[in-house]
Amino acid sequence: MKKKNTVVIFFCALFLICCQAENDSTKAKPEKFGITNEHILSQVENGIHTPSGLKAGKGLESVLVFCVSCHSSKLITQNRATEEGWLSMIHWMYETQNLPPLGDHEPIIVKYLAENYAPEEVGRRQQLEVEEWYELN
Ligand code: HEC
Repeated sequence: MKKKNTVVIFFCALFLICCQAENDSTKAKPEKFGITNEHILSQVENGIHTPSGLKAGKGLESVLVFCVSCHSSKLITQNRATEEGWLSMIHWMYETQNLPPLGDHEPIIVKYLAENYAPEEVGRRQQLEVEEWYELN
């Protein structure tokens, strides 16, 4: 009986050590979100870049450089659009708000926006667009 207890305790201890090791390994590799700038990464908490309120994701660096100099990042976080929609907002700013050309950063920014601020509940909205109802016989 005593021997059995010792074996049980041994395996329990082994299990706890393994769990601990796993925790440590996840801590040692914090999520990078595709962000390479260490300073920006250090300001990310729970997936949000705290100074701007923008979601952490690939392309955030470009958005912080090109998109928050004229207005608050809130204009971004409160909008939802597809790639097409975001591109058209950017083109509207080129044409009417003197947004300087974004060059190579444009597709990076559009991708970031479409991935992180995509339209919500598309299915539900489409269902509401039914214009004609017909009776089932
Ligand atoms: C040269 C200045 C400038 C820069 C840089 C700029 N914007 Fe704008 N943006 C504006 C102005 C001005 C408005 C209109 C603000 C208002 O209506 O109060 C605006 C409005 C917006 C809106 C709201 C549009 C709508 O239809 O409601 C969004 C979203 C937006 N900008 C996103 C961005 C993004 C993304 C970038 C980076 C690519 C960016 N802005 C960079 C000037 C700029």
